[in-house]
Amino acid sequence: MLHLDNGFDLRPAVPADAARIALWMAQPHIQRWWQQDWPVERWAQELSTQSAGEHSIPCVAAVDSQDFGYVEVYRVRHDRLAEYYASHDHDWGVHVAIGDVTRVGRGLGRQLLRALADALLRADPQCERVVAEPDIDNTPSVRAFAAAGFVQQGELQLPEKTALLMVRTRTMQQ
Ligand SMILES: CC(C)(COP(=O)(O)OP(=O)(O)OC[C@H]1O[C@@H](n2cnc3c(N)ncnc32)[C@H](O)[C@@H]1OP(=O)(O)O)[C@@H](O)C(=O)NCCC(=O)NCCS
Repeated sequence: MLHLDNGFDLRPAVPADAARIALWMAQPHIQRWWQQDWPVERWAQELSTQSAGEHSIPCVAAVDSQDFGYVEVYRVRHDRLAEYYASHDHDWGVHVAIGDVTRVGRGLGRQLLRALADALLRADPQCERVVAEPDIDNTPSVRAFAAAGFVQQGELQLPEKTALLMVRTRTMQQ
């Protein structure tokens, strides 16, 4: 369990979380952008595979001890994203989805993203950048990342989407 600022916690997602994550992923506001509305079994396999590998850490996010979303924290050097910008070995990337639909669009996403980026930069002194690649049309996501201190660094033409590269660097305090 990783405690973040502002009452957020992250814990590694395990196959027992697959049923809830599959339900979250099937919701239209997430399905539209993640396109991972898979059966429970496939999610259980995905969580096992990610947990066993070096690429990505799947997590359940909670605020005030209430689970509300799914986060993947990934090493850019092990991700296809490394081929699309001048990445550094210690860059971390984040994927985020608020599964509890009653909590979407209320500022929780930007708070989580800020707390998450701060925690990654604190935990890994060699990391200078936390990045994301939201679809250019995903306005809520782009705005939430921007409000969390991520800066747009240009467009990326990925195989399935045009994305904005959004980069959060250290602040003076970090
Ligand atoms: C992306 C996500 C994590 C953001 O979290 P959130 O708590 O909803 O975001 P916030 O409330 O902090 O900010 C949302 C912003 O988008 C704006 N917004 C919300 N719906 C919008 C819409 N339909 N059109 C335009 N802007 C919209 C809000 O006004 C707010 O921006 P502003 O305060 O600058 O005006 C969340 O919406 C989510 O899980 N979406 C589905 C999955 C997803 O898209 N993940 C990101 C993949 S990169």
